[in-house]
Amino acid sequence: MTGRLRHKTALVTGAASGIGRQSAIRMAEEGALVCITDIDDEGLAGTLALMAGRGFSLHHDVTQEESWRAAIAMALERFGKLQILVNCAGIGVRNDNIAALEEEGWDRLMAVNLHGTFMGCQQAIACMRQAGGGSLINISSVLGLRGSADALSYCASKGAVRLLTKSIAVHCGRQGYNIRCNAICPGYIATPLGLSVRESLGDEEFQRLVDKHVVGRMGVADDVAGMVVYLASDESSFVTGAEMVVDGGYTAG
Ligand SMILES: NC(=O)c1ccc[n+]([C@@H]2O[C@H](COP(=O)([O-])OP(=O)(O)OC[C@H]3O[C@@H](n4cnc5c(N)ncnc54)[C@H](O)[C@@H]3O)[C@@H](O)[C@H]2O)c1
Repeated sequence: MTGRLRHKTALVTGAASGIGRQSAIRMAEEGALVCITDIDDEGLAGTLALMAGRGFSLHHDVTQEESWRAAIAMALERFGKLQILVNCAGIGVRNDNIAALEEEGWDRLMAVNLHGTFMGCQQAIACMRQAGGGSLINISSVLGLRGSADALSYCASKGAVRLLTKSIAVHCGRQGYNIRCNAICPGYIATPLGLSVRESLGDEEFQRLVDKHVVGRMGVADDVAGMVVYLASDESSFVTGAEMVVDGGYTAG
């Protein structure tokens, strides 16, 4: 532990797996107390076991307003304050193209990726104001910067998260809340979600996608968790409304 987040408290959604899990572990290593939430209770237990007792886990569905209320209330009860929110819960859907996608899939994806992020930011801001400030971190994607034929609703949700983030940052700045709000745009990351793309594209097409990362590999969750820690820490006190691209050069060329 190097203490970059000492005395800070955080809530991380989607923390049972992938980027959320690794972000929670890294934040705990840096001294934060972390409330980890997800709908996957078994995965949460696995994450908690890697956090050296620096937090607790909670079943929380980000699509439900009541569930958000309960999660934030519990974090406040256990920690006394909430200063960092990482909105990491996210999904993809099958047949995600303009010809095939049905309304149910669109609605389900938007409920998690976009509406969940909106509700989290809205409810966390009230607590962060009481704590004297805070940092909201929303996970967008390189697919929030670029379109893709095979990720219609996903791109739409992640592009919206990016601009939701900027709009919140401007509002909080103007109101003098001392709350920063930033988005992270990862490239393809080797998590269950990232690797599911291989199934839908097939090996050859997937390899072409990996090759677009100019560093020559897919990302790992820790590549993104490092950026989460930076945005959560006071080192990033002059950074708000930003889209931090962590993509191994995917969008560079
Ligand atoms: N893996 C990638 O290549 C990649 C790239 C760019 C952005 N992202 C984004 O990063 C975030 C994390 O993705 P990941 O790759 O770690 O995926 P992951 O599948 O490993 O983890 C996502 C987690 O979100 C949880 N979740 C799903 N629906 C939920 C709900 N309604 N309420 C609460 N939790 C819910 C899942 O149970 C899971 O634990 C997502 O927002 C994703 O869109 C991922």
